[in-house]
Amino acid sequence: MSSLAATDSSASREPAKVIQPAWVRAMHWTNAFAMILMIMSGWQIYNASPLFGFRFASSITLGGWLGGALLWHFAAMWLLMVNGLIYLITGFATGRFRKKLLPITPSGVVSDVKAALTFKLAHDDLSKYNYVQKLLYAGIIAVGVVIVLSGLSIWKPVQLSWLVALFGGYDWARYVHFFCMSAIVLFLIVHVVLALLVPKSLRAMIIGR
Ligand code: HEM
Repeated sequence: MSSLAATDSSASREPAKVIQPAWVRAMHWTNAFAMILMIMSGWQIYNASPLFGFRFASSITLGGWLGGALLWHFAAMWLLMVNGLIYLITGFATGRFRKKLLPITPSGVVSDVKAALTFKLAHDDLSKYNYVQKLLYAGIIAVGVVIVLSGLSIWKPVQLSWLVALFGGYDWARYVHFFCMSAIVLFLIVHVVLALLVPKSLRAMIIGR
């Protein structure tokens, strides 16, 4: 009994392992906030001149009308761009991206997808991402870069005509912008559902351990 008690108290004195550093959590939630504003105001902008045969319900849009939505879109843009740039620079400079997201091998992805579909994917060590996570996180960072670049090209098509040309013209840049938004919304839905299914991971993103 006494030896058990000794073990317990020494274990409780050990600092809990930090899974997500504070800077990652701060940028993650800032990014989530900015993204929600960008998505909802983007949907209002879309409604003014829809690319497809549908409109978004006004209850899930932001800005009230085209002018208001553009103001929200450009205000949140600064938050997203500054936060995103600092996140990218810190991620590369600290080696976090290399350590956490690489390597991504096709065989690793296939075996982790199989494990996930049969509910055999381990979630014991949250500080290590599985191959599906690595692929999704690296992919969504790339989509984030493309949505910013396509957004810049439809915002300043004259000044950034070379960027517009890279997308194949203004109309294509608009489609690319929309499809990136769709990928981000899909990612967000899967990301939130998985975080709720593995509460430890949500806790790590809120308090770090
Ligand atoms: C930070 C860089 C961004 C810039 C400079 C930017 C700029 C713009 C501009 C100028 C428009 C109006 C396009 C038009 O008049 O047809 C627009 C539309 C839109 N944006 Fe962004 N945007 C950015 C990021 C984002 C993000 C992060 C999202 C969502 C995740 C988003 C979602 C949308 C949507 C859904 C539309 C409406 C699409 C359309 O109908 O053309 N944007 N954006």
